[in-house]
Amino acid sequence: MGKFQVIDHPLIQHKLTMIRDKNCGTKVFREVVNEIAMLMAYEVSRDMPLEEVEIDTPIVKSTQKTLSGKKVAIVPILRAGLGMVDGMLELIPAAKVGHIGLYRDHDSLEPVEYFVKLPADIDERQLFVVDPMLATGGSAIMAIDALKRRGGTNIKFVCLVAAPEGVKALQEAHPDIDIFCAGLDDHLNEAGYIVPGLGDAGDRLFGTK
Ligand code: PRP
Ligand code: URA
Repeated sequence: MGKFQVIDHPLIQHKLTMIRDKNCGTKVFREVVNEIAMLMAYEVSRDMPLEEVEIDTPIVKSTQKTLSGKKVAIVPILRAGLGMVDGMLELIPAAKVGHIGLYRDHDSLEPVEYFVKLPADIDERQLFVVDPMLATGGSAIMAIDALKRRGGTNIKFVCLVAAPEGVKALQEAHPDIDIFCAGLDDHLNEAGYIVPGLGDAGDRLFGTK
C-alpha cells in the first residue's frame, strides 16, 4: 500500500484556514493555493533520488549530491488543479506539465474526461497529479487510470483537502500510489462536497459560479 500523509506544517495549516474562509476573495485564494502547493512540493519530493557528482568549489575538488534519475511531470486535473501548478513549479522548475481535463457530473458525481495532453515520456517520469480536492475520489481515480493506460508508473497524488471517503476509494483503486493532503476533513455531504471543506475549488480559483 502506498503511503497516505497529511502535510500539517503550521504554515500550511494557517494558509489552509485562510482559503477555507468564504470571505477569502479570488485573488488571495489563488495566491494562497499556490503558496500551499509550493510548501507541499518540498515534502512530496522528499524521496527524489540523488547521485554524487564531483565539483570544484573555490577551495577544493569535492564530491557532492545532485538530483538524479527520474525526470518529473506535474499533471493538474483541470480546472482546479491548474491552481497548484505554479506553486509546484517554483520548487521543481524543470518539470514538464501534462493536463487531464475532467469534470464531475453534478447529478451523478461521476467524472467525465474531456481532455488529455501529456509529455511523450511519462513512463520515464515521476508524476505528481495535483488537484485541490479529493472528494468521492472519482476524478483522481480516473486521472490515474488515464496515466497508467499511457504507461505512467511512478505516480503521487497531491491535494489540499481530502475526504476520508475519497482517500479510501483512491487507495482501493490504486494501492500503489502515495497520497498527500494538507487537511483531512470530516465527511462528504449529500451533494458530494467536502465538509467543512472550502466549497467548489474551481469556482473559487477562477471566480465562476
Ligand atoms: C472538483 C475538484 C476535483 C473533483 C473532486 O472538480 O477539483 O477534480 O471535483 O471530486 P471527486 O473526488 O468527487 O471526483 P470539478 O468537477 O468541480 O471541476 P472543475 O475543477 O472544473 O471545477
Ligand atoms: N469538488 C470541490 O471543488 N469541492 C468539494 O468540496 C468537492 C468536490
